[in-house]
Amino acid sequence: MSADDHKRRAAERALAFVTSGMRLGLGTGSTARHFVELLGERVRSGHLDVVGVPTSQATQRLAVEHGVPLTNLDDTPELDLTVDGADEIDPELRLIKGGGGALLREKIVAGASARMLVVADDSKLVDRLGHFPLPVEVVPFGHRATALAIRRALVDLGLDPVLHLRPGSADAPFRTDNANLIYDCDLGAIHDPDALAAALSALPGVVDHGLFIGLCSGAVIAGPGGIRVID
Ligand code: A5P
Repeated sequence: MSADDHKRRAAERALAFVTSGMRLGLGTGSTARHFVELLGERVRSGHLDVVGVPTSQATQRLAVEHGVPLTNLDDTPELDLTVDGADEIDPELRLIKGGGGALLREKIVAGASARMLVVADDSKLVDRLGHFPLPVEVVPFGHRATALAIRRALVDLGLDPVLHLRPGSADAPFRTDNANLIYDCDLGAIHDPDALAAALSALPGVVDHGLFIGLCSGAVIAGPGGIRVID
């Protein structure tokens, strides 16, 4: 079985957490894509009656394509459950997210949800966060100065960061759905995620970062050994 097969199995198992009437946050990425596709099957067959808030324009298109009814946080500001993927998951269910660039909407939607369930293949489990470069979303205005401030803040925390402005198509940098930029920060290991999150959030120009702390309350992890539910 490939990693993608495991992602699909995790997404399928996560459907057991969904009941009719739920207001769902719909994540972004290849694992969340499986979830939206499978959810669409259940909705179209009449087995589930739900509404979803997508965390990206890509997920919005996908949900429409698969027949998942949509709403938004203005009309539905409280959600029951968000199901989303992750780039790294530590034993305390702290996450790094944003590899797909949707971290800001993903965090807003997760924060509006009573529960966040992460779905992933077991390659995403780590003892300590930080091997995956931490995405930091910044406003375009003055972004080089913001990047220097990020670097200084990280050095003050004892880290030795290398920052990369995420490339987009052609010569232009990647733009998020919010028209912002992303700096991917190579950190090696994050010893104190709370301190790092606080330091980044305090910087002018930083919109948000990919550390999800205290947001995720469960996980469905699939691998060669089977499916593990952490609930
Ligand atoms: C999107 O911005 C990300 O947070 C994704 O949820 C994360 O990158 C996981 O993606 P995959 O499910 O594709 O591994």
